Amino acid sequence: MILPIYTYGSAVLRKVAQPIQKDYPKLDELIKNMHETMYHAEGIGLAAPQIGLPIRLLIIDLEPLKEDNPEIGNFNKTMINPTIIEFDDEKVAGEEGCLSIPGIHENVLRAKRIKIKFLDQDFNEHTEVYDDFIARVVQHEYDHLEGNLFTDKVSPIRRQLLKSKITSIIKGKTATSYKIKSA
Ligand code: NI
Repeated sequence: MILPIYTYGSAVLRKVAQPIQKDYPKLDELIKNMHETMYHAEGIGLAAPQIGLPIRLLIIDLEPLKEDNPEIGNFNKTMINPTIIEFDDEKVAGEEGCLSIPGIHENVLRAKRIKIKFLDQDFNEHTEVYDDFIARVVQHEYDHLEGNLFTDKVSPIRRQLLKSKITSIIKGKTATSYKIKSA
């Protein structure tokens, strides 16, 4: 089932999401629906707050990038209750977008490398180190669980320039190819 994606201005995007337990109701179905929603919207990552649930769950599938970037194209993860336990001091800039902030793409500084602990869909624990583009995508999705959005991290000057675009997103006046739920 394709779910509406909550856009900038929705209160749920600003909450710190809460950990879940293995008995969370219909978790497999929820994860399946999140994938369907993400693929339909042509995204590569989606966090539960973006579909209105303030829980610590995110999915990433970089398959759409496979053709141009074969080295990252097989990255496909579901992360439950993730915690980034190390951020490298080295920061790199890269362009980001977000299904909750349609039509905006900006450069964001992120740690080049992170170490993250998470549970997979079967609640097995993993600790992984990611670099570069994958580290960026994971940090972006993880930020959603902390109530942060990538536009918070752009320079004040750029943010000023984005103001009117963001206002129209808040008002639900931005056209998208997917179903959205605005504040
Ligand atoms: Ni996002």
